[in-house]
Amino acid sequence: MKRKILVTSALPYANGSIHLGHLVEYIQTDIWVRFQKMRGNECHYVCADDTHGTPIMLRAEKEGITPEQLIARVAEEHKADFAAFHVRFDNYGSTHSAETRGFSEAIYKKLRDAGLIEKRSIEQYYDPVKQMFLPDRFIKGECPKCGAKDQYGDNCEACGAAYAPTELVNPYSAVSGAKPELRNSDHYFFKLSDPHCQQFLRAWTRGGALQPEAANKMQEWLGGEGENKLSDWDISRDAPYFGFEIPGAPGKYFYVWLDAPIGYMGSFRQLCSQRAEDSVQRMATPSPLAGEGGGEGALDFGAFWDKEKAAQEKTELYHFIGKDILYFHALFWPAMLEHAGFRTPTKLFAHGFLTVNGEKMSKSRGTFITARSYIEHVKNTEYLRYYYAAKLNGTMEDIDLSLDDFVAKVNSDLIGKYINIASRCAGFITKQFDGLLSSVKIEQVKFDNHEKLISKNNKRHYGPDYSSREILEKTLPLFRGWLNDIEVNYEARDFGKAIRQIMLAADVANVFVNESKPWELAKLDTQESRDALHWVCTTSIELFRQLTLCLKPILPNLATEVEAYLNIPSLKWADIEAMLMSGHKINNYKHLMTRLDPKLIEAMVAANQESLKPMTEPHSQQRHAEAQQHTPSSPLPAGVGDFISIDDFMKVDLRVAKIVNAEHVEGAEKLLKLTLDIGEAKPRTVFAGIKSAYDPEKLKGRMTVMVANLAPRKMKFGLSEGMVLAASGESPGLFILGPDDGAQPGMRVK
Ligand code: 2FM
Ligand code: ZN
Repeated sequence: MKRKILVTSALPYANGSIHLGHLVEYIQTDIWVRFQKMRGNECHYVCADDTHGTPIMLRAEKEGITPEQLIARVAEEHKADFAAFHVRFDNYGSTHSAETRGFSEAIYKKLRDAGLIEKRSIEQYYDPVKQMFLPDRFIKGECPKCGAKDQYGDNCEACGAAYAPTELVNPYSAVSGAKPELRNSDHYFFKLSDPHCQQFLRAWTRGGALQPEAANKMQEWLGGEGENKLSDWDISRDAPYFGFEIPGAPGKYFYVWLDAPIGYMGSFRQLCSQRAEDSVQRMATPSPLAGEGGGEGALDFGAFWDKEKAAQEKTELYHFIGKDILYFHALFWPAMLEHAGFRTPTKLFAHGFLTVNGEKMSKSRGTFITARSYIEHVKNTEYLRYYYAAKLNGTMEDIDLSLDDFVAKVNSDLIGKYINIASRCAGFITKQFDGLLSSVKIEQVKFDNHEKLISKNNKRHYGPDYSSREILEKTLPLFRGWLNDIEVNYEARDFGKAIRQIMLAADVANVFVNESKPWELAKLDTQESRDALHWVCTTSIELFRQLTLCLKPILPNLATEVEAYLNIPSLKWADIEAMLMSGHKINNYKHLMTRLDPKLIEAMVAANQESLKPMTEPHSQQRHAEAQQHTPSSPLPAGVGDFISIDDFMKVDLRVAKIVNAEHVEGAEKLLKLTLDIGEAKPRTVFAGIKSAYDPEKLKGRMTVMVANLAPRKMKFGLSEGMVLAASGESPGLFILGPDDGAQPGMRVK
């Protein structure tokens, strides 16, 4: 039975670029969707930009454009990035759409009519200069727990404490710098504390929609029976705000997280409308894609979202998300849907975070890599799709992109194992058989000559008594056995396991080629050897076809090229059984994939290393704005040179550095050799003229500040890669600078 499936990925914010962290989810979802479509299920994949909220409003203001202009520009960037990574949505919309507005209003009204919305006055920080209420992230101050300066209003990055913005010491507005005032304002709350809501959520979160580790987390948040741990959810924000105004509440807007998941519905509604338009057009011109994964025909919105209809039609709804937004998707979202009469998700598939080389993505290490930068440097995006797939297993565990392992795995699996099967046999079919596959059946192949070619060495795999035919008879069932399991693992999103099985099958196919030695057969000039050669190459090409089919959800572009080469229609899962037709003509082999050159990765990391980056336009614009605010209007103190602009100052890249080692330099009178960690993959070496003032032992472990973009200087004792800052004056003494507690290696000083 054909399943009817609707799939979403989380909506990316419309004020930032897509980076390698985001791509884990979109690639994961896209693989699963392509797999469902290949199996012949009706599967629709929708997404959209998440466009509302204060950060987007302020960013547009800073750029001197309207929020609508900003989100239109970012939408184009996002779409281009996704297309380059072969993430193929059936519709990519925007939460700033008529459809999403309509559903947001309708859901709100249903909740209000059900008595689940309450208006309450709350006290909140207000920026008197900017004349707006401040979201927590736009209030800064000293941490109430550890005293660290410049911490956000919701939690402290130095000690990790969570608190309310009103607890910050010496708070200031991150927008204008003004001291915020506490003011009252009416807000609208979704009453999650209502006993009906709690009861519903307790049952829903235990009903199998969540992965076990997510279900446990939810039980913690919900508390046990009789406990009431959920507080009401504030769903409104005051003007000025970029979003949808709440019906009947002028000057109040839906909080971005209220309309974001509703964007899933809005985007799907757009898809339904497009299909309706298409079907009118199609009557005139039928599409060549007809029948591919539900890509045609009218779509009924209600069948996927209406509670009763969805149950009747057994439609399925899956949200792929990161584990950080489980709270919104496992509590707020199902509660909203349920109480507004819509269906709830069949399952939430949460994944973990991405680390690069075992650590959080970092600008100073060059591992905060945008999709665009990957495309520019590496070009082939299927390498990354393959690597992510190899690492994904359907749980919420974090996944690591180890850059060395990435290169090694792509080259050994894809080039060394998979492509190798075709590249070793294809030429014979073209040159010796005019592109035609063999019509000789296995039983007809005479192995006598061929048999002599099997080396003693290779026989060890099977035991000394096996003949070629027996090797084959033993090999191919193994191959088939693995292929059968692959389907189950794709369905369970255990792509890592699927890939291990595909690669085992590729190993078997390679053993078959190794044992059969087509290049030796080609040297023998008899009809039997010619038949054997033809048959061996045909069999290898067929194994290659089956492996391609299995890899197609992960490598869709490559699979299309293979289909063109093999001169076959688009592969579907059911084709796993069919064998290439005897006498079928294939095209000339062109090299299908090149090795991943590690230099491309090195260049990409270097280009992303912030301290090495040339100044870019948006930054200098931002600095220009700051320069206007900060340029002093009074003369400088006596003895200080001419003014410089803030742009001049920003050219100096100052970084917090940890002195991991300090030692005397043989033969140097004034120098100490310092090893400095500034958050880069390799520590820096700096020769500093501070020997007169410091015992190296006492420097080890201390924090200081260094100039990170000073051109490296070759000295008699070695290369010096920067400079540490020290103060000195008329009186004797030399004092290296140190940051306050809490500063971390690599932080920019400005
Ligand atoms: O965390 C985020 O990036 C949000 N923009 C995700 C929204 S997902 C859905 F609810 F729209
Ligand atoms: Zn703190």
